[in-house]
Amino acid sequence: MIGDVSGSAGMGALFVGLSALIKEEKADFVIINGENAAGGFGIAESDYRQLKAMGADVITSGNHIWQKEEIYPVLSSNDDILRPLNYPEPCIGHGWTIRRKGQLDYAVINAQGRMQMAPIDDPMRRIEQVLREIRKKTPLIFVDFHAETAEEKEAMAFFLDGRVTAVAGTHTHVQTADERILPQKTAYITDLGITGVTDAVIGSDPQKSIERQLTQLPMKSEVASGPAHIQGVVIEAETAAGRAISIKRFTK
Ligand SMILES: [Fe+2]
Repeated sequence: MIGDVSGSAGMGALFVGLSALIKEEKADFVIINGENAAGGFGIAESDYRQLKAMGADVITSGNHIWQKEEIYPVLSSNDDILRPLNYPEPCIGHGWTIRRKGQLDYAVINAQGRMQMAPIDDPMRRIEQVLREIRKKTPLIFVDFHAETAEEKEAMAFFLDGRVTAVAGTHTHVQTADERILPQKTAYITDLGITGVTDAVIGSDPQKSIERQLTQLPMKSEVASGPAHIQGVVIEAETAAGRAISIKRFTK
């Protein structure tokens, strides 16, 4: 699972490093949060196609998925790119998917938090509604929970412990060092981090961010440029019951 791709620097880091990373880690299935791939805000159809071509099996997202309208028809007609499950119905696109690869079925659920974010539907109850159906088909279930607070993400992880393979937080763009296996064998990390510029403020140009802090004016942030890295986790799981065996954090 790879953290939020931020602009062309993030896309460039994947172009240079993703295939080697997949080989090195023997990754069977790759999930990438791509909601900020297009210049730091939203995802364009070309980003979706490039991420797929570079090795993403499923692309997840969050609040910025609605930024570029050109992606709406892509969301409607493909289920390997997800928008958060708990946007109020009716809503275009898919919030979860099951993809067959090799001999295995991989389920991916994308949900979004509500603390310090838009008051959309309850992510716990919405996941609960689809989980029974998903578990009938596969025990390998990966959740990208796109949320602001560690409290909401940890609560979600314990809520799903033993019922999904992994819960990985996204959205805050700062990789946390709390990756672990929960008591009922669900892998967890509060935030996967960023796939983007290393010397940046959550992906943005530091000078602009400083100016914003100093002036408190509603300035638009600008995506940073410079050397970039890929951040995320590698999760190892047993396939019979979908229990996580290990979770390893990386910056490449
Ligand atoms: Fe976000």
